[in-house]
Amino acid sequence: MVLIIFGASGDLCKRKLMPALYFLYKEKRVPSVFAILGTARTSHSDRSFRQMMKEELSRSLHQNQLDEAVLSEFIECLYYQPMNPTREDDYFLLQNRLKEMDRELTNESNYLFYLAVPPTLYETIPKLLKKAGLTGEPGIKRIVVEKPFGYDLNSAQELNEIYTSVFREDEIFRIDHFLGKETVLNILALRFANSIFEPIWNRNYVDYIEITAVEKIGVERRAGFFEQTGTLRDMVQNHLMQLLALIAMEPPRQFNAISFRDEVSKIYRSLKPFKEGSIGEQVVRGQYTTAENVKGYREEESVAPDSRTETFVAMKVFVDNWRWSGIPFFLRTGKRMPTKVTEIIVHFKQAPYHLFECLGTHCPVADSLVIRIQPEEGIVLRFALKVPGSGFEVKMTDMDFSYASLGHLPAMEAYARLIEDCFSGDSTLFSRGDTVEDSWSFFTPVLEYWKNHPEAPLYSYPAGTWGPHEADKMMEDLGFSWSNPCKNLTNTDKYCEL
Ligand SMILES: NC(=O)c1ccc[n+]([C@@H]2O[C@H](COP(=O)([O-])OP(=O)(O)OC[C@H]3O[C@@H](n4cnc5c(N)ncnc54)[C@H](OP(=O)(O)O)[C@@H]3O)[C@@H](O)[C@H]2O)c1
Repeated sequence: MVLIIFGASGDLCKRKLMPALYFLYKEKRVPSVFAILGTARTSHSDRSFRQMMKEELSRSLHQNQLDEAVLSEFIECLYYQPMNPTREDDYFLLQNRLKEMDRELTNESNYLFYLAVPPTLYETIPKLLKKAGLTGEPGIKRIVVEKPFGYDLNSAQELNEIYTSVFREDEIFRIDHFLGKETVLNILALRFANSIFEPIWNRNYVDYIEITAVEKIGVERRAGFFEQTGTLRDMVQNHLMQLLALIAMEPPRQFNAISFRDEVSKIYRSLKPFKEGSIGEQVVRGQYTTAENVKGYREEESVAPDSRTETFVAMKVFVDNWRWSGIPFFLRTGKRMPTKVTEIIVHFKQAPYHLFECLGTHCPVADSLVIRIQPEEGIVLRFALKVPGSGFEVKMTDMDFSYASLGHLPAMEAYARLIEDCFSGDSTLFSRGDTVEDSWSFFTPVLEYWKNHPEAPLYSYPAGTWGPHEADKMMEDLGFSWSNPCKNLTNTDKYCEL
């Protein structure tokens, strides 16, 4: 199989795809006939492309991952074809090059196209691949498309139409690397490989659920892209929705592309739609402002001084089904927060009656299960225990499992796992066309509301804080509060320095 990377001169290719491919190569998990053809407008020969990637990999790989002999072998699998992906004629250069490579490698026209280019090119490339006769039989043809897949419901539908007119649905791999993370996949193991959680995983025992994915950094070099996108499109519509689906879904009949994605789809379709009159109460958006030595969002390069792009979103959503009816799911994501953390907290209902005294500020509230996706991946079960000594005081305590302690096998980078699935044609962990549309369809009323009501509040929050007070108020109105990790976890110092 030849992996053809569009945008091979770009950031994603260098930082994520190449290290993942090197890892797969080292572990002998690539197809037996294998080569990578990089393409982009930047001029390179095979030789200079190989040299550049070798330097990048030598710099970026950890010392214990770097094997000079394997790296040299891997580099020999790289080829490069300069081309402009918007120019029809250039696809004949690509076609000729692929024919040449097929002969050299005895590849039977098996191609995996990877679109590591800006989303503005997502429409053009499959159309021109088809025109050049590079899709369809003979051989295997698959395409991987990066997020964001669409900008709203209409654009996602249009993209789906284009892709399904060129490829079959099982040949389209809409990638969201969140779903390749070991700890995200571990949510499935936690829920469906154990029997103790299932009986309490429902509205009878769960009070509410928090899903937080925040980062300490601002927009960095992505300001131009981010200005047009905003946090809801960049993070909520894809990453947070994936996490919500894994927490809320029913057990799939089998762990395969059909059963698993059917269950994801059912959750998206069970989301209680936003009503225009209540969007302001259900969704809080914010934008970071200058604090100490940190620039505010509007002061960042390539950001309009009066920008209304949100860098923070908190929302309350409901899954209207038998299991979850009436249980709020609070989602929150933002930039320039006090720390970088992605975690899900399942809060259970309080014990019906307080039999014991409580100690100071650690009064038992209710049990909770914290699933930490990053950093320090692990699971914490938080529950009340007796304080040693006389009397009978109880306080909350943590039973803390660190994912690193499972050790032994080298943890696979999310991209490595997902690319391996593309090689083998397993689309279980990739978004299906209808699910992407369902997700956009859920959020489009919010996007439309913000577009049509420029006066709708965009709250400010100083960089380095947990977002606008209105996000806290949204929780407090229901008697809950956000579990800001720096405050609550046991290993606070290490956690909050990150
Ligand atoms: N970077 C990440 O960590 C990351 C993470 C998740 C998803 N993604 C997604 O992955 C995709 C690629 O990301 P990236 O950060 O690698 O993007 P990038 O560096 O901005 O672009 C990748 C390459 O695309 C080519 N390109 C850019 N504009 C073009 C144009 N108008 N016409 C033709 N070619 C053009 C450029 O190569 P030439 O100038 O040489 O042609 C560039 O090196 C994006 O859709 C992004 O949303 C990226």
